[in-house]
Amino acid sequence: MINKKVEDILNAQINKEFYSAYLYLAMSAYFDEIGLKGFSNWTKVQAREEVDHGMILFDYLIARNGRVEFNQIDIPETNFNEPMQVFEKIYEHEKSVTAAINSVASMSEDECDLATRNFIDWYIAEQVEEEANVYEVIKKLKMFGSDKSILYLIDKELGGREYSQHRYEN
Ligand code: FEO
Repeated sequence: MINKKVEDILNAQINKEFYSAYLYLAMSAYFDEIGLKGFSNWTKVQAREEVDHGMILFDYLIARNGRVEFNQIDIPETNFNEPMQVFEKIYEHEKSVTAAINSVASMSEDECDLATRNFIDWYIAEQVEEEANVYEVIKKLKMFGSDKSILYLIDKELGGREYSQHRYEN
């Protein structure tokens, strides 16, 4: 049986991952609205990955005989005004997710739940990749984003991102 404090923090993390999916979908809809189909694709693929993150936690909690809680998912922001602003918001969001994952790691360590401590390493590595991917786009936008023809090329590049299901690997 899983420790209650660890169960609670994992449930909170499930909620954060599904909220992340909502947030990325809101961004995807915005990009689609302004005609940036590639940016819309990139954020939509990210939303699907966030659902995978939530589902991996869901399966883990069930495997540990824990209880999954279905808390309300917050309404995401929908007021966006340009790609750079959106990607800066994404970066801030991912940094907050990293902090939440780190809290899961330290909580599971404090509670001597070494199975969860080991499990959460996958998320720690995933966050490094996520922050790096977002920052990569920010760097390009910083460098060239004011040039509309380059923005078009960045949009094309982001349109090439493909979804592949994220699975937990130990
Ligand atoms: Fe699941 Fe983007 O963190």
